[in-house]
Amino acid sequence: MRKPLMAGNWKMFKTPEQTTAFFEKFLPLVEKSAHCEILVCAPFVDLPAAVIAAAGSSVGVGGQNLHWSTGDGAFTGEVSGPMLKAVGCRSVIIGHSERRQFFGETDATVLQRTKAALASGLQPVVCVGEMLADREAGKTNLVLETQLRGGVFSLTPEEFTAVVIAYEPVWAIGTGKTATPEIAADAHKFIREQIRAHYGDAAASSTRILYGGSVKPDNVKSLMAQPDIDGALVGGASLDPISFASIVNF
Ligand code: PGA
Repeated sequence: MRKPLMAGNWKMFKTPEQTTAFFEKFLPLVEKSAHCEILVCAPFVDLPAAVIAAAGSSVGVGGQNLHWSTGDGAFTGEVSGPMLKAVGCRSVIIGHSERRQFFGETDATVLQRTKAALASGLQPVVCVGEMLADREAGKTNLVLETQLRGGVFSLTPEEFTAVVIAYEPVWAIGTGKTATPEIAADAHKFIREQIRAHYGDAAASSTRILYGGSVKPDNVKSLMAQPDIDGALVGGASLDPISFASIVNF
């Protein structure tokens, strides 16, 4: 009942020209892929090129961050939800661990940005995940619970229906160390239990929880075989159209 969502996170890669070239190769490889929703989250400057290239296809385009104000304002360097929406975005990544590590993102700002995304009509893909030290100290569930509570659990049940959660263990991002399907499955199960405790059975069974962290064409199948894994948030392997298409077509 949950349609898988395969999302690419391009991070700070590609120019508009390279974006157009990516879609030229990628779209024919996924035109029959109706089993899942497909999303490409590109740098801000590439969004218009991505939206134009993806027009008429089922591939959605998203941003990687947004400001928490939905109005215009004196916020140098920032981009708002209505701006993303105006350019044709469907979704936006929020609270990625790189934002948390390098740009001062907190659970409180994740919540504000998630509210702004919802108010702008964008699907928020909210990232949570533990650092290696948390896992080694046996604190994985505590970290996940804290991030969920601070970042999304004060949304109303109605607001929460639009939210996608991405579980990304920080130690698995860009390192080539994927969480084993069992490790990922445990974390996804825990996240779903938390959703059930806060929002009830219907929300728990309809919310999509994506896995992210070194997802590649050769490991996607075993991850997607886990009952609580509803898709992937793919960094490095989403930059190449052939590799991202083979992940989409797992
Ligand atoms: P990776 O990145 O696939 O390159 O590990 C995932 C992410 O950061 O979303």
